[in-house]
Amino acid sequence: MSKKINFIAGFMIFSLMLNSYVWAQQTNTSFTPGKIWKDDKGVHINAHGGGIVEHKGVYYWFGEHKIEGENGNTAQVGVHCYSSKDLYNWKDEGIALPVSEDLTSDIAKGCILERPKVVYNKKTKKFVMWFHLELLGKGYAAARSGVAVADRPTGPYTFIKSYRPNPGKMPFYAEGTADKDKVNCETPANKSDGFFYRDLPGGQMARDMTVFVDDDGKAYHIFSSEENFTLHLAELTPDYLGHTGRFIRIYVGQQTEAPALFKKNGVYYMVGSGCTGWAPNPARWFKASSIWGPWTYMGNPCQGEGAKLTYGGQSTHVLPVPGKKGEFIFMADKWEPKNAIDGRYLWLPIRFENDKITINWLDQWDLSVFKK
Ligand code: GAL
Repeated sequence: MSKKINFIAGFMIFSLMLNSYVWAQQTNTSFTPGKIWKDDKGVHINAHGGGIVEHKGVYYWFGEHKIEGENGNTAQVGVHCYSSKDLYNWKDEGIALPVSEDLTSDIAKGCILERPKVVYNKKTKKFVMWFHLELLGKGYAAARSGVAVADRPTGPYTFIKSYRPNPGKMPFYAEGTADKDKVNCETPANKSDGFFYRDLPGGQMARDMTVFVDDDGKAYHIFSSEENFTLHLAELTPDYLGHTGRFIRIYVGQQTEAPALFKKNGVYYMVGSGCTGWAPNPARWFKASSIWGPWTYMGNPCQGEGAKLTYGGQSTHVLPVPGKKGEFIFMADKWEPKNAIDGRYLWLPIRFENDKITINWLDQWDLSVFKK
């Protein structure tokens, strides 16, 4: 009897080893939006609401590590990191920023830690991670930004602080900003103005977010503020670890979430979503000739079947394509709030038609869709 059990156990171990060997041998040569994307260990990539930073020819993908079930919508583990040289095959680099077992920590296990984005600071030679943070047991009320830092791209990242940005600071208005977009203290023009003034003393709310580094090395934090009614684009300090107090408000009162910024030929582009929680809604994009705006709302970039709901996804990042200047990949999450770990990744090429961007669904594609 025990011999038989030993044999079965041995066979199972052998099969498992064979499985991982086969996976190690398999290389992906295309993107399959919405399907299971296996890492080098054969496990579905666990990096939701993520972003990618390139360093010395290697791409590092950071995202929310989710667990099974609805509890997976809270941070039980931390920020997961993967690396790749070709964007198709991803190596598991482990947890770059773990949540804390200390329940008094801002990033205590069970908090909500979303949309982590890492950027590299050429001057300080540090990797800086920003994320949306909600304190343990407080639902989505805290609306803070958290920041962590590391010497190496894969971490470990050291948590520094979390707070609401820009307390006591009024927005900066670029030339050409319409009066309706200026925050009005005497007679608030809309709900959003009211929220702005309410939060002026303690700092502005900061939820869905991204970080963008411009060609001159300046970094900007873009986040849903004012109860998610209005986006803020705020300058970071030269070390990228804080806010300078200079910021603009974008698309006031229109509830933009999930911002992702990129730049082509001196023009700034941003893709975002509406505000319907985990459920998909139409994507939206904006354009500006200066980072300080004014940013023009340009409508939905998605086309064809599924376009009205962003093919079931929500933007998270836009990635410049390696070796193909001026080409970009739209990265989105297809959330699975009932079983968070099963969230999928929708990556699609962005096409430029004159001054417009468009996104179309593809079941399967590779980088050859971009011209050389
Ligand atoms: C979405 C947001 C996600 C998450 C979710 C919670 O709108 O983009 O990052 O916060 O709401 O319901």
